[in-house]
Amino acid sequence: MKVAVYNLRPFDEKEWFEQYSKELGLQLVTCSDAPDLSNAELTKGCTCVDIITSPINRELMEAFAKNGVKYLVTRTIGYDHIDLDAAREFGIHVGNAPYGPNGVADYAVMLILMSIRRMKRIMQRTNMQDYTLHGIQGRELKDLTVGVIGTGRIGRTVISDLSGFGCKMIAYDLYENEEVKKYASYVSLEDIWAQADVITLHTPLTEENHHLINAETIGKMKDGVVIVNTARGGLIDSEALISAIECGKVGAAGLDVVEKEFGLYYYDHKNDILDNRQLAILRSFPNVTVSHHMAFYTDNEVKTVIRDSLTGCKLFMEGKKNPWEVA
Ligand code: NAI
Repeated sequence: MKVAVYNLRPFDEKEWFEQYSKELGLQLVTCSDAPDLSNAELTKGCTCVDIITSPINRELMEAFAKNGVKYLVTRTIGYDHIDLDAAREFGIHVGNAPYGPNGVADYAVMLILMSIRRMKRIMQRTNMQDYTLHGIQGRELKDLTVGVIGTGRIGRTVISDLSGFGCKMIAYDLYENEEVKKYASYVSLEDIWAQADVITLHTPLTEENHHLINAETIGKMKDGVVIVNTARGGLIDSEALISAIECGKVGAAGLDVVEKEFGLYYYDHKNDILDNRQLAILRSFPNVTVSHHMAFYTDNEVKTVIRDSLTGCKLFMEGKKNPWEVA
């Protein structure tokens, strides 16, 4: 039972891959790089491939299929980086590994607090021994309305976490959840734009909600609105966000994810000239906190995704019901 593992990180993942593959009786072929056509041959003789957020396009899917791959699992919750049509075309099943929502929810709450308390500016000043107060006055959550878009596992946890802060909460999702109603009222997207002081995104990226936050929807928001995105970069039109920050319409943003982050995030680029102007501009603003898609990254998450991604492979190979299969 062979599994090809891509993007294996030696410093935190290796020991767990070794432990769980031994426990599950799986043989691993490992590679620290992202999968591409030049290293697809690693998958020869492997029934399963284990990846992270690297795009898997039709060509790569075809190469995997030719090598005998039948199951592709991503050590992430989101799977928008995988061409599911191609997977169906080449008969490859796809699974994910949805670890607990608390790590990302904690992070979203942290970005909300950092944004409303102007923490980026405060830290920059403290580092330079500038202990002045001008320009760093914050706002209190209890005075604000938080709009949560997407009330699945993470959005729901954010709502329950925020319930202790005394803020008003409104929520939008395609499907309502009874638990959410204990703390928040479901409203339309139009009401989220009109009423929220803080908007936090927790939906998957789909064709339907690509650039959900754009020039038109930002125009309907409150002046000084705070936008937090720990979901996917493509939910926000970066150009529209930049213009709205420049004119003061958006008061602050916390962005764990941005458009065109693939190839940048998780690599050391300090000596490189990067081909992502929008990221450079967003990073330069004193009221925008950018992090490199790491809201998930906790001790608990690493262990859980490795265990569940490999368990999914094992179940698949044994022809058993696999709760993590998504397509
Ligand atoms: P989930 O599947 O439990 O919840 C997603 C919710 O979004 C569902 O309730 C669904 O009905 C709703 N939804 C889908 N399309 C929508 C739309 N167009 N408008 C409104 N609601 C919509 O997913 P979970 O676990 O809560 O994760 C949410 C997202 O967070 C993931 O899809 C992923 O993109 C992102 N994520 C980011 C991480 C990071 O490290 N920054 C880590 C983990 C997840």
